[in-house]
Amino acid sequence: MQADIIVVAAGKGERMGRELPKPFLPVGGLPLLIHTLRAITQSSLIANIILVVAPEREALCHDILRAHGRFHVPVTVVHGGAERQDSVRLGLAALDTTSEIVAIHDAARPFLDREILERSIETAALHGAALVAVPARDTIKRVGEDGTVVETIPRQQLWLAQTPQTFRVALIREAHARALAGGVVVTDDAALLEHWGQVVKIVPGSYRNFKITTPEDLLVAE
Ligand code: C5P
Repeated sequence: MQADIIVVAAGKGERMGRELPKPFLPVGGLPLLIHTLRAITQSSLIANIILVVAPEREALCHDILRAHGRFHVPVTVVHGGAERQDSVRLGLAALDTTSEIVAIHDAARPFLDREILERSIETAALHGAALVAVPARDTIKRVGEDGTVVETIPRQQLWLAQTPQTFRVALIREAHARALAGGVVVTDDAALLEHWGQVVKIVPGSYRNFKITTPEDLLVAE
């Protein structure tokens, strides 16, 4: 069972406080995006990569791919949108009509493990939707706007959602179409299926697969 993968790299990276968005920042001498694509192409289950970038970064993206991107898998570059959800929807629209399973992955997670990616593809093929996640290690509090604790959320059932999130193409396409029609906005793709009562299976992930968001994360990644 092969799958395609959508890599979303069209964010502005405002929390990083740098001019370039994070997928284009150097880590260990290479753009972050290249590390992510190299991790993905470790798996022989990936047939095509759809890389979603902001229109104003397309030229830079092609330069980077020309310089470092000799992959055995075709990479198609498409334009993203204002929110992550828009970028994913535009990526889905670019999939080949024969595509059956699609993984969706943040470009800002370069430490993706091949086994975890492959387990998510196998799980999506069996159950329709697979979410890579890790159990919450810290105790999580809900905090009010005045900076005082409102409640402590019992940790036993809390998992932190990561990517890849992997789906049967027809299911995730329909979930995105319904969300667009109904004005539903979420921060991850699995939430769209949950919203509509679909089963989403957890694939245990790895704490290494963190999302690079802040300057501290970049130091850790380095
Ligand atoms: O902003 P956040 O860290 O949640 O972004 C996660 C991933 O989604 C990043 O790789 C980012 O480039 C991507 N993204 C996108 N289009 C947007 C916003 C975020 O492709 N409009």
